[in-house]
Amino acid sequence: MADIWLKNCKIVPENREYAIGIENGKITSLKKAAPGGEENLDLKGAVILPGLIDGHVHLRDPGLTHKEDFRTGTAAAACGGFTTVLDMPNTKPPTNTPQAFQEKLEIADKKSLVDFGLHAGVDDPSQIKEMAELKPASFKIFMDLVEKEFLTEIFQEISEIKGHKPLISLHCEDKQIVNRSTAKEREKGNLNPEIYGKARPARAETVAVSNAILMALKFGLSIHICHVSTGKSLELINNVQSEIRVTSELTPHHLFLDSKYLEKFGNLAKTNPPLRDLKHKLGLSDLRRIDILGTDHAPHTLEEKEMNIWDAPPGIPNLEVTLPLLLTQINQKEISFKDIKRLFCENPAKIFGINSKGVIREGMDADFVVVDMKKEGVIRADDFKSKAKYSPFEGFKVKGMPVMTIVRGRVVMEEGEVFENKGKSVEYKF
Ligand code: DOR
Ligand code: ZN
Ligand code: ZN
Repeated sequence: MADIWLKNCKIVPENREYAIGIENGKITSLKKAAPGGEENLDLKGAVILPGLIDGHVHLRDPGLTHKEDFRTGTAAAACGGFTTVLDMPNTKPPTNTPQAFQEKLEIADKKSLVDFGLHAGVDDPSQIKEMAELKPASFKIFMDLVEKEFLTEIFQEISEIKGHKPLISLHCEDKQIVNRSTAKEREKGNLNPEIYGKARPARAETVAVSNAILMALKFGLSIHICHVSTGKSLELINNVQSEIRVTSELTPHHLFLDSKYLEKFGNLAKTNPPLRDLKHKLGLSDLRRIDILGTDHAPHTLEEKEMNIWDAPPGIPNLEVTLPLLLTQINQKEISFKDIKRLFCENPAKIFGINSKGVIREGMDADFVVVDMKKEGVIRADDFKSKAKYSPFEGFKVKGMPVMTIVRGRVVMEEGEVFENKGKSVEYKF
């Protein structure tokens, strides 16, 4: 006997309707029809997907809660169809010590509406073993901010961990190239946002990705390359994937936007790595060679974004636009539901080791997003639940939207309205 049945759910790509039985937050049965007389929710033939897993969000809590916090950030996630988010460590304090990690876990536990995990950063490599016990989703390193020797120490420490070696996630831009090119462009006194790409050129990413791969090969560790923004980076990654576990992530802004958007939206389109020109950027046809999509939801205040191109912080809030943008592409027959399931459900669960999520199957968590493929709209950042009410996707027309988000059997979003829920820290298989 299930607690509740979701009736007439269209599971894709099978295109058949099922009744999904849920008990204690888990999927307990998948049947053609729900037994009569039990509590149920009729989806009337709407498409249901596994809840999306976003492996890359910056929820700014603690310390930067004027930009976002775990409550508003996870409300935005629920509106966007995400049932799990993995938070990045660049908060205040950064999640770089065991104490900061535990404190953030407590905050997230109190405020999260969807399930969550935390990436850890590193201040002192000698603390890595102790931090690994706390089960971070990965150790996240910004190669644009650290020296190569420091990165080597981190790889060394992780390689010495007995048993499962944690994943290393990398922001790949070479520190030296970025610093040198930025100083050069800044000196010219040009304040036009379009030149931002020159300050952080594609070759900075090529060099960093190459170094990251060499390091992974040397130490025999798994790495995950965040926000791949050029064809060259993807080629480098694809070339070694048969030898070592290197996975790639693509963001919606690097997929759908190019450097011209800096002209149109100024700093609202400023992000690291920068939006690339058409020659370098990736497109929909590259998705089959990408492992996961991640939003890199990176909210800032409008005041900060109004500063000049050099002082304004980089980052785009994407949680509420990404799924509508992708569903629009499905309606246009450019991509399929299978792509979304692989890139935002199955692969993130596999890469980060979240065993109980990512697939609609008996025994899995009852995490779902229900989508209305006929619902049309226009992206308006004013309507975001995120505190960051701006978007370089402003004005984009979409067809296909998430209309209901369910986390372990509880409806947390319906038609844009968010309901109270207690998000839980995810369990990893390792
Ligand atoms: O654009 C970015 N924003 N890139 C990063 O690496 C950091 C992020 C942020 O935290 O704002
Ligand atoms: Zn990054
Ligand atoms: Zn990021």
